Amino acid sequence: MKILITGASSGLGAELARQYATKDNSLILLARREDKLKALQEELKPHAKNVKIIVADVTEFETLQKKIAILGFVDMVILNAGISIGHSEELTSFSDFKKLYDVNVLASHAILEVLLPKFQEQKSGKIVFISSLASLISMPTSKAYSSTKRAVNAYAEGLRYKYNRDGIKVINILPGFIVSEMTDKNNFKMPFLLSTQAGVQKIIKAIEKNKRVYAFPLRFFLIISALNLLPRFLREKLVNSVN
Ligand SMILES: NC(=O)c1ccc[n+]([C@@H]2O[C@H](COP(=O)([O-])OP(=O)(O)OC[C@H]3O[C@@H](n4cnc5c(N)ncnc54)[C@H](OP(=O)(O)O)[C@@H]3O)[C@@H](O)[C@H]2O)c1
Repeated sequence: MKILITGASSGLGAELARQYATKDNSLILLARREDKLKALQEELKPHAKNVKIIVADVTEFETLQKKIAILGFVDMVILNAGISIGHSEELTSFSDFKKLYDVNVLASHAILEVLLPKFQEQKSGKIVFISSLASLISMPTSKAYSSTKRAVNAYAEGLRYKYNRDGIKVINILPGFIVSEMTDKNNFKMPFLLSTQAGVQKIIKAIEKNKRVYAFPLRFFLIISALNLLPRFLREKLVNSVN
C-alpha cells in the first residue's frame, strides 16, 4: 500500500508510520518539522518498501495541494495532523480559533480536494480521519477543539454516504487520551490514558476492519454516551462538577 500520513513527525502520526513500516508499504510522511521527519525516515527505511517525506504546513493550502498533486496514486490517506490550544474556560481568541479550524478541518479538505478525484479514478482508496472522543462532548475548557472534531465527524459522514458507492472507504477514528506531545501538555489526570503504541494498534485494527466509525477506549466512550443520554439539566450539572 502507498500510505500518506499527515502529522507524522510526532505522537500518533509517527507511531502509525512505525507500525505501517513493512516491506509491503510505501510511506509518505508529512509535517512541518523536517529534522523529526528525516530522523523517522532513517529509522523506517530498512523496514518499509519506501519512505518519502514532505515538509509542509497544512495551513498553506495552495502549496500543500501542489505537493499532494504530484504524488500520483495513493491507496490510503490518514488525516492525522491536528492541534489543540490547551484547556481553558476563557473565550478562545479569534486567531486561535481560526488556526484550529485551518489545521483540524480545512487542511483535510484541501488534501481531499486533490486526492478524491484520483480515488474515484482508481475506484478504490481509504480516507482515515483522526477525530476525537472530544467531538462527542464539549467541555467548557475544550469548546473550540471539540467543535473542530465535531465538524470532522459531520464531514466524514457525508463523504462516506457519497463515496462508498465508488469503492472508497471513509473511516472515522475517535480516540480518547493517548500519550503524545499534545497530551504531554495536559496538567490534569487523563482518564483511560493509553500508551501511543497501544492506541495506534487499536487504530490500525479498526482501519483493517474498515470500521466506519471507531471510538475508543470503550469504557470512556460508554461513559460519554451515557452522559449524552441524560436530560440536559442533569448533564450540565455533571459536566460542571467534573470540569
Ligand atoms: N493524543 C490524544 O490523546 C488524541 C486524542 C484524540 C485525538 N487526537 C488527534 O490525533 C491527532 C494527532 O495528535 P497527537 O496527539 O499525535 O499530537 P502531536 O504529537 O502534537 O502531533 C500532531 C502532529 O500534527 C502536526 N501538525 C500540527 N500542525 C501542523 C501544521 N500546521 N502543518 C503540518 N503538520 C502539523 C505536527 O507536526 P509538526 O509540528 O512537525 O508540523 C505533529 O506531527 C490530532 O488530530 C489530534 O487532535 C489525539
